[in-house]
Amino acid sequence: MFIDKLQKENSYAVGFIQSTIWDNYVFGGERNFFVLICEKNDDPVGYTLVTPGRTAGDFVKIQQIAVRQDARRLHYGSMLIGVIRKYCQLRQRMGARLRCRQDLESNNFWRALGFRQYGTWKKGAINHVGFRASDDINLWEIKLNESIMTFDFMWGEQ
Ligand SMILES: CC(C)(COP(=O)(O)OP(=O)(O)OC[C@H]1O[C@@H](n2cnc3c(N)ncnc32)[C@H](O)[C@@H]1OP(=O)(O)O)[C@@H](O)C(=O)NCCC(=O)NCCS
Repeated sequence: MFIDKLQKENSYAVGFIQSTIWDNYVFGGERNFFVLICEKNDDPVGYTLVTPGRTAGDFVKIQQIAVRQDARRLHYGSMLIGVIRKYCQLRQRMGARLRCRQDLESNNFWRALGFRQYGTWKKGAINHVGFRASDDINLWEIKLNESIMTFDFMWGEQ
């Protein structure tokens, strides 16, 4: 209920994921998708939906993240990313990737957290699952796993 409300309020930024995906793939356990919720005084104030990939070395994908308007700039968003970091270390994931429309303020959030823009999905281009970009979309990534980063250090970034 909380997630659904926040998702709708922020649909301009996070898109819309229909209830069957939430019911079956997230809460029903048919896929390994997971959602993290942060709370203040037992009240939920933000969430992130993550698809963790299949194997060690993959990047997890942040499909959605939103913090309630009245709780922004209090580092709840950063804390959610902090938990994703722990997940990456626990499950041997390389880090996190996401897409963010280039006109959104949240690009400043990703930059501030140390994400790097590794590409742009140009308006009108069709991606690998047949979706057409409605606007220029920034592709962001961050490495969050020191043990895999050591490997990069030894062999050079690809
Ligand atoms: C993006 C979002 C989740 C960030 O959550 P948050 O809890 O407000 O973020 P934090 O407080 O952890 O911000 C960490 C840092 O990021 C930067 N930052 C965050 N929001 C920013 C903004 N709107 N403008 C500029 N910098 C920003 C700041 O440097 C901030 O640190 P500071 O407040 O100490 O200066 C939140 O703004 C949100 O829900 N936006 C609407 C939905 C959305 O855009 N989702 C992402 C789609 S790609």
